[in-house]
Amino acid sequence: MNSPLIIALDFPEADQAIRFSNKLDPALCRVKVGKELFTQAGPKLVETLMKKGFEVFLDLKFHDIPNTVAAACKAAANLGVWMVNVHALGGSAMMKAAREAIDDSSCKLIAVTLLTSMGREDLKEIGLMGEPLDIVGRLATLAKSCNLDGVVCSAMEAAMLKTKFGKDFCLVTPGIRPAGSSQDDQKRVMTPKEAIAGGSDYLVMGRPIREAPDPSRALQAILEEIA
Ligand code: C5P
Repeated sequence: MNSPLIIALDFPEADQAIRFSNKLDPALCRVKVGKELFTQAGPKLVETLMKKGFEVFLDLKFHDIPNTVAAACKAAANLGVWMVNVHALGGSAMMKAAREAIDDSSCKLIAVTLLTSMGREDLKEIGLMGEPLDIVGRLATLAKSCNLDGVVCSAMEAAMLKTKFGKDFCLVTPGIRPAGSSQDDQKRVMTPKEAIAGGSDYLVMGRPIREAPDPSRALQAILEEIA
């Protein structure tokens, strides 16, 4: 499946997520299950989505001691998800352990560099000095050196990372808004077309699809725009 779209199932309960997924075609997008939905609905929901034909990005952003993160990634891979992620700030020993734990599976492993909710002052407060973009570059370099498959990054950072790491290091970017749609609480957004042109491989989209009167048509329109 070569659609770059990953639709965020940011719902509080399984029923809502399943009802919404019925409006999507698994041949045209993947879905993302995050902390709220997974904590509420668990692996059973992930299995239901996979039975419907969806490839699932399990967005739990693991960050713990290497042994624990490796075991958690293994559990995710055993569940059969398409992609799982960890925090690069957990360090190289943690990322390498995660990589080794799922090397025998086809599950992709990516890292979150910096949370886009953190600005320069927030980073300084926890001892991370310097330009956020430099820190992102350093953490992505570390993730790549641990053989991770890619990173989550803002579309604004994608061009820099794509140039630095090449086409095989995948870039997953949220903060995507079709031209003319609401920015919601996202501060820096790009259109799907701009993000792909800038080097993003996968676009994570939530509200622009979830809140569309016809989600399937909205998704189709985005695919046509970036085709
Ligand atoms: O509704 P919207 O398109 O803004 O949803 C974006 C999705 O991507 C949400 O699930 C959000 O948690 C996630 N995300 C993000 N920014 C990040 C990392 C993840 O918006 N830096």
